[in-house]
Amino acid sequence: MKYAFPLAAVIALVLIALIAVQIPGMQYLFGVVIPYLAMALFLGGFCYRVIHWAQSPVPFKIPTTCGQGYSLPWIKHDKLEAPVNTAQVVARMFLEIVLFRSLWRNTKASVYAGPKLTYESSKWLWLFAIMFHYSFLVIVVRHMRLFLDPVPWLVSFVETGDSLLQIGAPTMYTTDVTIVLALLFLFGRRLMNPQVRYISLVNDYFPLFLILGIVITGILMRFFLRTNVDINAIKQLAVGLVTFSPTIVTEISSLFYVHLFLVCTLLAYFPFSKLMHMGGVFLSPTRNLANDSRMRRHVNPWNPDIKPHSYASYEDEFREDMIEQGIPVEKELPPKAND
Ligand code: HEM
Repeated sequence: MKYAFPLAAVIALVLIALIAVQIPGMQYLFGVVIPYLAMALFLGGFCYRVIHWAQSPVPFKIPTTCGQGYSLPWIKHDKLEAPVNTAQVVARMFLEIVLFRSLWRNTKASVYAGPKLTYESSKWLWLFAIMFHYSFLVIVVRHMRLFLDPVPWLVSFVETGDSLLQIGAPTMYTTDVTIVLALLFLFGRRLMNPQVRYISLVNDYFPLFLILGIVITGILMRFFLRTNVDINAIKQLAVGLVTFSPTIVTEISSLFYVHLFLVCTLLAYFPFSKLMHMGGVFLSPTRNLANDSRMRRHVNPWNPDIKPHSYASYEDEFREDMIEQGIPVEKELPPKAND
């Protein structure tokens, strides 16, 4: 029941916003004050964590071993798996970020009669993870039409592409369907797969429910309770927020405030959660370090500056004491002047 608490938390957040905005004056708190606080926490927290990671010393190179490293000219070098220069590292990073390449190698361990343990390729997680992240990205890009006036061509282009199926009125966005499917799969996987269920924590379920809450309230606003939603007033507020002159001119549907409050919670929660993998992937040593440990000397930045002390100089320093204690020496003491 590790998912009951985060589910209850998201329901509580919905109810808080839904009830609070009925009180006069509270619209300003939920429409202006909380969004600014959440954004400040998001930006401040995000920068703090990335700077902290960037300052952490990297004591040694971590060459990943899934590809042929650079060696003799006649042995084919795997440039993506064992990059040796910045361009090759950038190529590996780029494919990791846009295609989730390492997740493509995801395997599933199963025990069969015998007992026999097998590792089989499992691409479902990769597929739904790609679906989720790209749907989210497209939805965020489309939302820019609320904040920008005039709307940039890229936003209109993405919106046209997303509503290409021309189903329903207002037209259904493909990403609304794919993000719901992906979220349900990602939640289902944590429920159904015993190993994943065992390691899943409240922090794994909470963001899933929170994002599902944001998506459901968004879909309700656009497709089901549209008559209550005054898009012009919302756009005026959104443009006001980004130009630091926010105004709430008319009554806006409480559903919008619920949507916005859940988004604010996500922004405020983001820097303290696993969602920071968005920034962390760029600082991941197994992705961003070149596999050049045989070509270049990598000095551990933690190493203290040790002065070499050879045996000869050690003996020079302690020869007298060593002789006095009967310890054999390589070089005798020079004869004294009166000898
Ligand atoms: C994490 C960020 C957000 C996500 C994932 C999200 C998600 C969604 C989704 C899935 C919809 C359904 C329709 C569509 O896909 O466009 C929607 C609609 C909507 N969202 Fe968001 N939203 C986010 C942030 C915001 C913010 C910050 C605002 C306002 C300041 C906002 C205002 C709206 C409005 C007004 C609609 C209805 C649009 C319409 O009727 O065409 N959303 N949202």
